[in-house]
Amino acid sequence: MTDDDALAERLAELEAIPVWDTRKLSKEMGGPRAVAHVWRWDLLRPEFSAAIKTKLAGPGTERRVILLHNPGLPKSYAAATHTLNGALQMILPGEIAPAHRHSYAALRFVLEGSGAFTVVNGVRVDMDPFDLLLTPAMFWHSHTHVGTEPMVWFDGLDTPFVTYMQADAFELHDSRSLEPHNESAREAHDFGNTGMLAGRQRTMSANSPQLIYKWSVARVSIERAISAGSIDPFDGAVFEYVNPHTGGHVMPTMACYAQGFASGFHSLARRRTSSSVCVVVKGRGATIIDGKRYEWTEKDVIAEPASAWCEYVAYEPSMMFRLSDQPLLEPFGLLRVEDHPDGRQSS
Ligand SMILES: [Fe+2]
Repeated sequence: MTDDDALAERLAELEAIPVWDTRKLSKEMGGPRAVAHVWRWDLLRPEFSAAIKTKLAGPGTERRVILLHNPGLPKSYAAATHTLNGALQMILPGEIAPAHRHSYAALRFVLEGSGAFTVVNGVRVDMDPFDLLLTPAMFWHSHTHVGTEPMVWFDGLDTPFVTYMQADAFELHDSRSLEPHNESAREAHDFGNTGMLAGRQRTMSANSPQLIYKWSVARVSIERAISAGSIDPFDGAVFEYVNPHTGGHVMPTMACYAQGFASGFHSLARRRTSSSVCVVVKGRGATIIDGKRYEWTEKDVIAEPASAWCEYVAYEPSMMFRLSDQPLLEPFGLLRVEDHPDGRQSS
């Protein structure tokens, strides 16, 4: 045994680590790294049909959820990136997901079906395809499906971050489903589409008071921007869903964007210290991530790891929803954005 090894061994016994043993340290520090990945809708959707037919079908299967696991992370993370959890959830006609709340902030992005509603803190929120719904941390919520076809949505949560901070909390409500005490959620037209706000007292909450963002509004905004040539060279026609009272992100831990690309659009490459999960609404294209092309089509989900070079290519007119952990980084000056020195990656 060398003197170095003997010293390292003695320090290990004292639960201390020699910082000069950097080869070992750099490998172990920072934990596992998420990788780029595409979860394909055409492969995952049939698995729901199979799941319904199993013994898991029927009462007690309120949580028919398929978690999206990033292959770069341990299975125990069950996460799409190191900070964001992504899942597909199916709810069948007549089903109720029991009322509960948790310290995880969550959002739903509807992929298929209509007729289900979520009650969030007493507000009834009806869901149509590609609508975005917010269930901020510790807001009571339940889901009820009164439609005729199965509904599927994408769930996005900040679970890995909250768990890392050891701030997990989960409670079931005494009553199974929540009765709405407001018949419908406030939508965009309540919040300054006209440049005016109704004369209610304005709270400056870190959570958006608007709990639903209709896709019909996002789609028109994207189409207008593309027609007007108002295109960001990195993100295409891009809009952020915002808290209408503050102009800030919709929730303190997650930011949401809608993006659109004309057919043939090929963006410049950029990398950010934030990570993202994208859900394709329509079209067909690819995201080039760290030099590798990841092809996608409708309802596919794509993981963009932190600090990976990303550029978008649209083979046909395309739109996507992007969920980002950017708000986690900003308060600490940790969000860094870098444009590729050559414009695009070589791939
Ligand atoms: Fe929940």
